[in-house]
Amino acid sequence: MVAYKSKVVERIELPSRERRERALAEAGYNVFELASEDVFIDLLTDSGTGAMSDAQWAALMRGDESYAGSRSFERLESAVREVMGFSRVVPTHQGRGAENVLYGALLSEGDVVPNNTHFDTTRAHVANQGAEPVDCPVEGARDPTADGPFKGNVSLERARAVVDDVGAERVPLVIQTITNNSAAGQPVSVENTRRVREFADEIDATFVIDACRFAENAGFVRRREGEFEGYEIAEIAREQLGYADAVVMSGKKDGLVNAGGFVTTDDDDLFERCKQRAILYEGFPTYGGMAGRDVAAMAVGLREAVTEAYVTDRLEEVRKFATLLSDAGVPVYTPPGGHAVYIDAGAALPHLEPAEFPGQALVCELYREGGVRGVELGSFAFPDTDRPELVRLAVPRRTYHAEHFEHVAETAATVLENPESIDGLEVVSDPSMPELRHFTASLEPLSS
Ligand code: F0G
Repeated sequence: MVAYKSKVVERIELPSRERRERALAEAGYNVFELASEDVFIDLLTDSGTGAMSDAQWAALMRGDESYAGSRSFERLESAVREVMGFSRVVPTHQGRGAENVLYGALLSEGDVVPNNTHFDTTRAHVANQGAEPVDCPVEGARDPTADGPFKGNVSLERARAVVDDVGAERVPLVIQTITNNSAAGQPVSVENTRRVREFADEIDATFVIDACRFAENAGFVRRREGEFEGYEIAEIAREQLGYADAVVMSGKKDGLVNAGGFVTTDDDDLFERCKQRAILYEGFPTYGGMAGRDVAAMAVGLREAVTEAYVTDRLEEVRKFATLLSDAGVPVYTPPGGHAVYIDAGAALPHLEPAEFPGQALVCELYREGGVRGVELGSFAFPDTDRPELVRLAVPRRTYHAEHFEHVAETAATVLENPESIDGLEVVSDPSMPELRHFTASLEPLSS
């Protein structure tokens, strides 16, 4: 059942094929370099790209811009307390700001950090502290065709192997990312969260949940984890987050805002350490790099994110989009995740080797054919790893309608009518940091 109607609209237009061809070539076959005006349906990310509700816009007007002791911050504190169950909040400009504040307070040179899968910025912030990020996904997480209700879980076996290898004293922190963005947005069970809690206790480590998409995760838990059938989303979210010592949050996802983030905990000592770092890197601890109005909108967004109407609408939208694509003959990662549909470009374009970047080739064709912008998460974004060749079509929250998704499915089906005609690509100019090359590198078709 549809849960929203539009109150404000933004004009969009499919540029001519000629203009798309030119824009793609000028962007160096890298869609991060496209102007948004040249994009028709933008599925690059679900981060900060969603629509706010009328209640959020109203809260925005009442935002308190006081440097210290802002009323909007009090509203955020009470929303975090009720929705997530924690009493201490350090606001930041976005998720990676929260990562810098928290991981800087917890990690030292030589530490090792297990996580189901580190998101790019998480990996970079762990490494930035001189620590080593280690991914511990469960078996099947990287297999686009494997079945399983919770392919986002942490493998306790792998996490224990890390501790056996380096010793518990070098593992002061364990992270669980819900949902697991870098594993196709797959959910994490509450049971797995409990096991990670026990594991952290065994090795005397701090347990942090990266809760960017915690509300979507709670929706999956209710559908798939028997114990929680009939529970309210808000109850599940509080139960799951309650096992953590601290939560790191990007408000740009399930905070339902365009910018913002925070760290939250009940640990007074950790709170103090984060607060000091926040003053250094973010801003005074009652605004933390956000405008007061954004803090106010995030307080409302957090409460909306755990409503039944929001979560049901969100999961259904993404599930229907995945069905449209697979009905059109497009191979998609199964089961679909919470915030995006992932196309298996390796299966779609089997004639291309990983070194010819099948995912990036597909991303370019989707744009060329239908003005659709997705993002490659395969050999181009993650060189030297054995990940599947995925293309992520992320769904901005409360933004696109059925016709938009139909256009994307039709575009993908047209592109894949004649897959052998799709050429591979090569990188022709590389930025200095290999981990970040997919954001700015230029490519060229192999035949050119
Ligand atoms: N953690 C996870 C799991 C994320 O998905 C992101 C961002 C962050 C942390 C960082 O948050 O962007 O507010 O600084 N993911 C976006 C994406 C960028 O497109 O998946 P941020």
